[in-house]
Parts: sequence; C-alpha cells; structure tokens
Amino acid sequence: MEFRHLGRSGLMVSEISYGNWITHGSQVEEDAAFSCVRAALDAGITTFDTADVYAGTRAEDVLGRALEGQRREGLEIFTKVYWPTGPGRNDRGLSRKHIMESINGSLRRLRTDYVDLYQAHRYDYSTPLEETMEAFADVVHSGKAHYIGVSEWKASQIREAHALARELRIPLVSSQPQYSMLWRVIESEVIPTSEELGIGQIVWSPMAQGVLSGKYLPGQPPPAGSRATDEKSGAGFIAKWLTDDVLTRVQRLRPLADQAGLSMAQLAIAWVLQNPNVSSAIVGASRPEQVHDNVKAAGVKLDADLLKAIDEIVEPVTERDPARTESPAERP
Ligand SMILES: NC(=O)c1ccc[n+]([C@@H]2O[C@H](COP(=O)([O-])OP(=O)(O)OC[C@H]3O[C@@H](n4cnc5c(N)ncnc54)[C@H](OP(=O)(O)O)[C@@H]3O)[C@@H](O)[C@H]2O)c1
Repeated sequence: MEFRHLGRSGLMVSEISYGNWITHGSQVEEDAAFSCVRAALDAGITTFDTADVYAGTRAEDVLGRALEGQRREGLEIFTKVYWPTGPGRNDRGLSRKHIMESINGSLRRLRTDYVDLYQAHRYDYSTPLEETMEAFADVVHSGKAHYIGVSEWKASQIREAHALARELRIPLVSSQPQYSMLWRVIESEVIPTSEELGIGQIVWSPMAQGVLSGKYLPGQPPPAGSRATDEKSGAGFIAKWLTDDVLTRVQRLRPLADQAGLSMAQLAIAWVLQNPNVSSAIVGASRPEQVHDNVKAAGVKLDADLLKAIDEIVEPVTERDPARTESPAERP
C-alpha cells in the first residue's frame, strides 16, 4: 500500500480506503463483510469510511465489530453526519442538536472514543453554516473527532466553511466527492479551490459502483450477486450507469487495461489516483477477492498516452458540469 497526506494536513491515509456503503448491514452477510475488512487490513489499508446513515446505522456497527481488537492508532476511521438516522425532524441535517447526538451514536456503534475524520455528508441549507461549524468545533475540541471534512459541497461552500474553521481553530482538511473517469464534475472548481486551501479529495465510487470493472456487458443481464441485482438498495443507485452507450464504451477500455497489465478495476482506481489533489480512493467490495484485485492499483502510474486514449473513449458519456455537485435544497 502507498500513503498520502490528507490535504495539507499531517494525517496520512492509505491511497486506497475501504468504504462500506450498501454492503455492510445490507447487501452482504456479516461473514463476507468481515472477510472484506480482513482482506483490506492484510493488504495494508488503514483508512475506513462509513456514515451514520448507511444501512440505517447498521453499517457503522458492522465496521466497529470488524475492526475490534485492531490497534486504534494504526487506523484512520471516517464517518459522516447529515442524512436521516431516525424518524424525527431533528434526526437529520447539520444542526447543533443532530451533530452532537449523531457523533455520540457513531462512536458507540464504531466502538471507539474518537473518529479521525468527521464529515458533513451534504450541505444543509436549513442550518446557518456558523451553527454547524461551531458544533464541529466543539466535537473536535472535546476530542471526539480529530479532523473535519465535507462531502459533495460546492467550491464556494468549501471556501466559506474553511474560513470559519480557521477562525474556530479546527482543521477542515477534506472533501469527499464522487469522482471517476465518468464523473469529473469536481475538476473545474472544487479541485482548484481545494488545492489553494490545502484540502484533499477522498473520492467515492471511483469504479462507478463496479461499472468500470467491465463486468456489466451491454445488452446482457447483470452478473448474479452484483450491485445491480441488489433490489434492496444498490440496483437503484447504479441504474444511471447501466446504459448501452456507457457499457459499450467501458468495454472499449479493456484492451487499454490489458496493454497496461492492469485489471479494469485497477485501471479505474489508478486513474483517480493520478490527480495529486486526490488523497485517497474509497473503494467498496462485496467479497474479499475484489479487495485483492483493487489494492494493486496503489502506486500505479498511468502514462500520458494511456490517459489520452481513455479520454477519447469515455468523453461523450463523461459528466463535467460543476453544478452537478449538489446537496438537497431542503433537509431530506
Ligand atoms: N459521500 C458520499 O455521498 C458517498 C456516496 C457513495 C459512496 N461513498 C463512499 O465511497 C465508498 C465506495 O463507493 P462505491 O461502493 O460506490 O465504490 P466503487 O468502488 O465504485 O464500487 C464498489 C462496488 O463495485 C463492485 N466491485 C468492487 N471491486 C470490484 C472488482 N475488482 N471487480 C468487480 N466488481 C467490483 C462491488 O459491488 P458488487 O460486487 O456488489 O457488484 C463493490 O461493492 C462507499 O463505501 C462510501 O464509503 C460516499
């Protein structure tokens, strides 16, 4: 495994982190979840990403138990707050009340005294940013989180939060956006702003939820056991990528991966890691063999000709509009 600084902070994270959205507590049985975490640890992954909302809070519980007994100082555990964790109107968003309650729930489920990074899962237009940042400052100053991050925030929102964080003397060090060959909406605004402010990207769905692994074939039913067959939740999220145009173009990447001596999954993960503002690629897995495959993307350099050839294939189906970095207009 290779390691990078999280933005301009002193915290180091593994280039590939392990995330448990959709899988733990939902799509996969507990023994598969535990085997994936074991495979990640064995491969040198030290950074783990989850959220209070995943699988209705069960994902944090599974991850907490899977990591139990590990040396805490050897891990970076990240979680998030914003999406609903209960039926009440205050069980969501970035109010002081919900942040204070949610961090305590996350720590209990994760079986730890602190998280390394606490992230605002979306921007909350119903709470003054000052209230949110002051609550985050109290979370940091009480030792429950070491660093603060945001997820899917626009460049202007990141800039405003960063200024408040400086005033409050807390480290806002990361942004967690969707980023892959097919989804490049952060390139024009979020990345330049983040570079200027010393913020690193921890990117999600680097494989477009498995699509860039090449296993979904145009005109064919999805492979058994894949996310696209998970009617409980995964199928709805991945559907937007399962068009013939996208899947046909993804198949055209296969010879490029072969030529580079990489699996398609490795090519997709290595691609996001070519951007120096990316601190880590958060990769999901439903079985340990996928972790074994994916971790080999760490440290891989892709040459300029290969990057150009990839661009030529995927450009017509790539989203670049910075306005697609968005949070709900109202609290969900
Ligand atoms: N901040 C946010 O709003 C946000 C949103 C989404 C995700 N995230 C974070 O990002 C993490 C990763 O997201 P993601 O799971 O969508 O990422 P991803 O890495 O693009 O997709 C992972 C999925 O692809 C399939 N896969 C993985 N490796 C494979 C391989 N080598 N060959 C074939 N298939 C493979 C697996 O699904 P199947 O085996 O089931 O097909 C796996 O669960 C999440 O766990 C979460 O921590 C954050």
